[in-house]
Amino acid sequence: MIKNKHVDIIIKNASQLVTAASDIPKTGVELQNLGIIEDGALGIFSGIISCIGKTNEILESYTAKTIIDASHKVVMPGFVDPHTHPIFVKTRENEFEMRLQGKSYKEISQTGGGIRASIKDVREASLEKLIELGLKRINKMLEMGTTTIEAKSGYGLTTESELKMLKAIQMINEISDMDIIPTFLGAHEYPEEYKDDHEKYIDILINEMLPEVKAQNLAGYCDIFCEEHVFTVSESRRILNAAKELGFKIRFHADELEPIGGAELAAEIGAMSADHLVAISDEGIRKLKEASVIPILLPATTFSLGLTKYAPARKMIDAGLPVALATDFNPGSCNCDSQQLVASLACLQMKMLPAEAVNAITINAAHSLERGKLVGSLEVGKQADVNTGHANLSVFAISSWK
Ligand code: NIG
Ligand code: FE
Repeated sequence: MIKNKHVDIIIKNASQLVTAASDIPKTGVELQNLGIIEDGALGIFSGIISCIGKTNEILESYTAKTIIDASHKVVMPGFVDPHTHPIFVKTRENEFEMRLQGKSYKEISQTGGGIRASIKDVREASLEKLIELGLKRINKMLEMGTTTIEAKSGYGLTTESELKMLKAIQMINEISDMDIIPTFLGAHEYPEEYKDDHEKYIDILINEMLPEVKAQNLAGYCDIFCEEHVFTVSESRRILNAAKELGFKIRFHADELEPIGGAELAAEIGAMSADHLVAISDEGIRKLKEASVIPILLPATTFSLGLTKYAPARKMIDAGLPVALATDFNPGSCNCDSQQLVASLACLQMKMLPAEAVNAITINAAHSLERGKLVGSLEVGKQADVNTGHANLSVFAISSWK
């Protein structure tokens, strides 16, 4: 090491410095490896990690104006949340009560609630209002240690209001410290006016919305809610192929409620990720593996819907899939904005090991957004998104690595 090299900031005395380092999404036994440096430290120069190692080695070789003492707590990468819906006007807690009284998410959606119940407000809201509301929510996520999120449109369902949502995401990305990756989700639901004319809405999606989102460069990903009562497999295939032709990459709400072949289609289409997967078939698991699609599991949604069947995380890990985890933060089915709680639920409800869950909310989540070379781990050359382990890390319900 070069002696007396100067950096801006040194963080020293981490009892465990969790690097989660990996150039590729982690699978199998590697998913259990957190790349921990005991008594670790790192240096930051111009917002980039410039050195990392044992505290004594770093202090011998580097100086800095600002030295942060991690006080023998855990230091880890900022969390990456690869599936969120943070742009909306009001939460739908009335639906929570309806579910407690026995109604299912699908029944509520089919009787005027669900995604459609969030549309009117978003269409009426000004861009400024959406920015103001979204910014507050996203700043709260930052406070809880999340430093990169994916954010979807999907509560406007007209060309104008979908573009407005994406512009809100773009503006919030500019003004907040969060790194935000936008996804176009015009195929979130059929809006009321086209609920009996699917062809017309698909036509608008393919011929108006997607080209306009592309022309204005507002999103690189296109997502869809593929479910028997929303977009069927064959409707999804048409829409996503059209999106691909325009140059979009694909993300995918697949097999959340019923095993209708969503994962299989995600594989066929070469999606970047397939998300939810509570009802995935064994064939779906095999196909995701074959096509290198990253499964993103959303246990806080299952929890919030009061369901007991969670996505088969262990089966997917055993099949060699690089599982990632996300909150699915949204106004109806899941108001959880904490990747810490998600990791905890992944352990308690899906039997993921703590180390697997931590890799799934950091490096694997980053790879699922094609940001694995920039964020998601603590490595020289990467963005210095660092969580200095406060006491709240205890919610991971883990003891093996603390
Ligand atoms: O991922 N499943 C579709 N989209 C959201 C639900 C959005 C809503 O209910 O408002 C989800 O769970
Ligand atoms: Fe979602």
